Amino acid sequence: MRTPFIAANWKMHKTVAEATAYAAAFHARVDQIRNAEVVLAPPFTALHAVAAALAGSRVGVAGQNLHAEPRGAFTGEVSAGMLREAGAAYVIIGHSERRQLFGETDASVNAKLHAALGAGLAPIVCVGETLAERESERMFPVLNRQIAEGLAVVDAARAGAIVVAYEPVWAIGTGRNAAPEQAQEAHAHIRQRLAAALGDTAAGGCRIIYGGSVKPENAGALAAQPDVDGALVGGAGLDPGSFAEIVARSAAAAV
Ligand code: PGA
Repeated sequence: MRTPFIAANWKMHKTVAEATAYAAAFHARVDQIRNAEVVLAPPFTALHAVAAALAGSRVGVAGQNLHAEPRGAFTGEVSAGMLREAGAAYVIIGHSERRQLFGETDASVNAKLHAALGAGLAPIVCVGETLAERESERMFPVLNRQIAEGLAVVDAARAGAIVVAYEPVWAIGTGRNAAPEQAQEAHAHIRQRLAAALGDTAAGGCRIIYGGSVKPENAGALAAQPDVDGALVGGAGLDPGSFAEIVARSAAAAV
C-alpha cells in the first residue's frame, strides 16, 4: 500500500508574509488526515519561514529546484545541502517549466537526482509529454527516455524515496486535466519502466503522482486510479482551502 503523496508547487508566487499566512491557515486543515504525505513547495525566499511555520505539523516542505553541485561559483543557484538546512525534506526536479524555459535536460535531471539523494532529500522527478509528442504517438518513447536517462544508475535501495510526477505538458496550467483513464495508462507505463530500471520491489513502492490542472473537483477520480498515488498541484495549490480539499479527496479516494 503506497501512502498518497500530495504536493503544492507554488512556482514564483507568494512573498514570505503570504507564504507564512498560508502555512498557518493550511496545516490545521490537513493535520488530522493520517493517510497522506503532504508537501508545500514555496519559492526559495520563503522556504525557511514556511518550514518554521509548519514545525510540529505533518506538512513537509520542498524546494522547487536545486543545483547538482554542493557549492561553488554558480550565481543564482541553490544546493541540496542549503535546501536541507533551510528545512526542506523534498525537492522538485525537472519540472516541465525548468525543461522548457531554463534548458534542463534528462542529463541535468539525473545529476540533480543524485545530488538530492546524496543529501537525503526526497526527489520529486517530473516527466511528461507535450501535446505534439502525444499527437504524433511519441508519448511512450518520450516517457521511456525521461525515465531511463533521468533516473539512471539509482541504487534500488534508495529508489523508494523517489516520487515520480507524471505531468503531461498540455495539462499544466491549461484547465484541461488528463482524464483519469489517460493518467492511469501513463502511470502504469511509468511503473513498468521503473521496474525495468529499478526492479519490481522498488517500482511497486514508488509513488507516481499526477500533475496538470488538478482541482478539488477532479482530484478524487484521478487518485482512485490504481497507479495514481497522489497529485502535484500548481494553480489550485495557491489557495489553502482548495489545496486542503484536494488533499482530503485524494486521501479518501486512495483508501
Ligand atoms: P497546474 O500546474 O496545477 O496549475 O496545472 C501543475 C504543475 O505545474 O505542477
